[in-house]
Amino acid sequence: MDTTNEKILVTAALPYANGPLHLGHLAGAYIPADVYVRYQRLKGADVLFIGGSDEHGVPITIRADREKTTPQAVVDRYHAAMSRTFERLGVKFDNYSRTSLPLHHKISQDFFLRLDEKGFIREEEVRQYYCAPCRRFLPDRYIEGECPHCHSLGARGDQCEACGRWLEPEQLLGPKCKVCGAAPELRNTRHWYFKLSAFQKRLEDWQASKPEWKNNVREFSSGWFKEGLTDRPITRDIDWGIPVPLPDAEGKVLYVWFDAPIGYVSSSVEWARKRGTPDAWRDYWCDEATKLVHFIGKDNIVFHAIVWPAMLMAHEGFILPSEIPANEFLNIEGQKISTSRNWAVWADDYLDVFPPDPLRYYLEANAPENKDADFTWKDFQAKNNGDLADVLGNLINRCLSFVEKNFENKVPPAGEPTGAEAAVLDAARRAVASIGGALDAFQVRRAVAELMDLARAGNKYFNDAAPWSAMKVDRARAATILNTTIQLQAALSLLMEPFLPHSAPRLRAMLGVPAEQAARPWGEIAEVRLPDGRPLGKREILFGKIEDAVIEEQIAKLGK
Ligand code: MF3
Ligand code: ZN
Repeated sequence: MDTTNEKILVTAALPYANGPLHLGHLAGAYIPADVYVRYQRLKGADVLFIGGSDEHGVPITIRADREKTTPQAVVDRYHAAMSRTFERLGVKFDNYSRTSLPLHHKISQDFFLRLDEKGFIREEEVRQYYCAPCRRFLPDRYIEGECPHCHSLGARGDQCEACGRWLEPEQLLGPKCKVCGAAPELRNTRHWYFKLSAFQKRLEDWQASKPEWKNNVREFSSGWFKEGLTDRPITRDIDWGIPVPLPDAEGKVLYVWFDAPIGYVSSSVEWARKRGTPDAWRDYWCDEATKLVHFIGKDNIVFHAIVWPAMLMAHEGFILPSEIPANEFLNIEGQKISTSRNWAVWADDYLDVFPPDPLRYYLEANAPENKDADFTWKDFQAKNNGDLADVLGNLINRCLSFVEKNFENKVPPAGEPTGAEAAVLDAARRAVASIGGALDAFQVRRAVAELMDLARAGNKYFNDAAPWSAMKVDRARAATILNTTIQLQAALSLLMEPFLPHSAPRLRAMLGVPAEQAARPWGEIAEVRLPDGRPLGKREILFGKIEDAVIEEQIAKLGK
């Protein structure tokens, strides 16, 4: 399908506002989502692209404790930082919200109350560690002790990082409060549970109707189904979060993974209000014709493919996810990203040195779609210098400098085409279709490879046709070759838009692509034509090469 009037609601996982964004975040959810959204818009779809910061949860309170500041100060800082990073990268949400807003609190509490009214929430008495000196119940991550499996010290109440096993706090040997070091005692407390078990059958039937979903999502889910879904506690005893909206729930807040996905709804509501059409969010969330697409990393699969859909089923009135393109992880120089060891490439550090598009290109071409991928600085340099500068950049530069010298920087007139012209323009037509097909199937990696292949085909055509030789004997033939190469670049300048959104308009300006041509829908991109004699714009270098020394400097920062 070339054009569409589809309605698509796209979300990208709400990042925790407890640290800056690194390349793992970008590769997993945000770059693929942005590419998809830009493409669907060019195709004519009605897209709402929703994001926001996830501002609750224990990692945020732990950071606040460590820095002797408040959770609000932590999330204010990182919400501002992340919004700016997305802007710098050209990840363009229609609304980027935050879950500490009163609007989100209210919508989450209403969601909870509705599930409660419908009988999908139950209360249970449980035993939990209590720290007497701190006078509070301790969340799992606030308890440390010896791992019962590998006996390393410093295992957390939810997981031992040394051996990787998941733990319950009661399993820790010699448990200690992470804040004051005292030994906690088990006390009775109450929590509220979401009756997830009631949805097993419906979830299984629903997922069975999605055979085209990615393997990682299907396999992960079927593992959970096999073990049998159990009810999940959705409240916590901490003082940072959304208060449980019940009269006898003093000191209890909603579990972060209960309120965070509701953030997709509240960010949509905020979007609608900001633009003065307060009910417009319903056109997406409450219309079965809308396709809901959640971009996430694989660590978020269970919440998006099981728990959140069950919450939506329980709530009723909202659509269910249509697609959950979950990506695998990005490693850095062969090792897992670890923020505590600073084994990470921070997006802002990158952006302080390099332009955004080469990173976008690298993460698109090397996206962790079906297995983990590796970011290496050398490979980044090779892709920038090889693909962007030598293939795409060179095609543009060679052709346009030739036209500048020999044709007064105007589009040379097209004469009678030969088979070679027909073939290269046909390659453009096929590229438009196959890039579109790949993006419809969430295959950014394949899509951007097709884009680069088209640039390669353009270079080959230009070399074989050799306008510099033709120029000596047949000026009209040279003009035809240059004209064809310019038309191809005009098509490329539109095809680049989803992938390289900063460079694409610069190329269009260099070519002087008229507005009405640039506005062609995706399916017509190969038919874009610049008229004979049209003045070209000012030529500039689109993609600079990156020197070894600059790369070495970046490598040296890792792990420091
Ligand atoms: N904050 C979570 C993470 O970074 C993702 C939350 S996604 C949402 O892993 F669905 F809850 F919003
Ligand atoms: Zn304590």
